[in-house]
Amino acid sequence: MIGTGRADDRDTVLGLGADTFVDLQAERLEEIGHVDVVLDVIGGEILDRSAALVRPGGTLVTIAQPVTVQPANGRAVFFVVEPDRARLADLARRLRDGRLTPIVGSVRPLAEAAAAFAPGKRTPGKTIIRVTED
Ligand SMILES: NC(=O)c1ccc[n+]([C@@H]2O[C@H](COP(=O)([O-])OP(=O)(O)OC[C@H]3O[C@@H](n4cnc5c(N)ncnc54)[C@H](OP(=O)(O)O)[C@@H]3O)[C@@H](O)[C@H]2O)c1
Repeated sequence: MIGTGRADDRDTVLGLGADTFVDLQAERLEEIGHVDVVLDVIGGEILDRSAALVRPGGTLVTIAQPVTVQPANGRAVFFVVEPDRARLADLARRLRDGRLTPIVGSVRPLAEAAAAFAPGKRTPGKTIIRVTED
């Protein structure tokens, strides 16, 4: 598994289980070679350039935007999550079991929810909104 990101993300990505890290600012995405699946969370130019990485029969999945490109001999999918109780419960189980490792950037009280997601505000990692004090 190959993980990508900015230079500062290297240790985090390798710590999460990637075998190799590619610094998107310093290295060329195209030099990765062909892979079975690309999972894109960035979109735009990175999504466009990712299509060429998909081997024949492989898949490009993006969660960032509707697909704008198709791999030459593969497929491209815009995946949109549809949360439901059963899936959220499964995610909670994975968290408890240690099979899912979220990167928590900040924990804020409910009263600060709007400020936490205000435009222009950028906190690395996920922002948790604490609904109760228990
Ligand atoms: N389809 C769905 O169901 C679904 C669900 C959730 C989210 N989304 C979408 O998926 C995308 C990602 O969501 P998220 O919550 O994971 O966002 P996020 O926490 O902001 O994560 C995006 C990551 O990509 C990095 N990044 C962005 N541009 C980069 C670049 N050019 N080079 C290297 N790294 C880059 C960001 O780094 P920096 O912080 O350093 O920029 C950040 O670490 C968003 O567009 C969101 O709207 C879709």
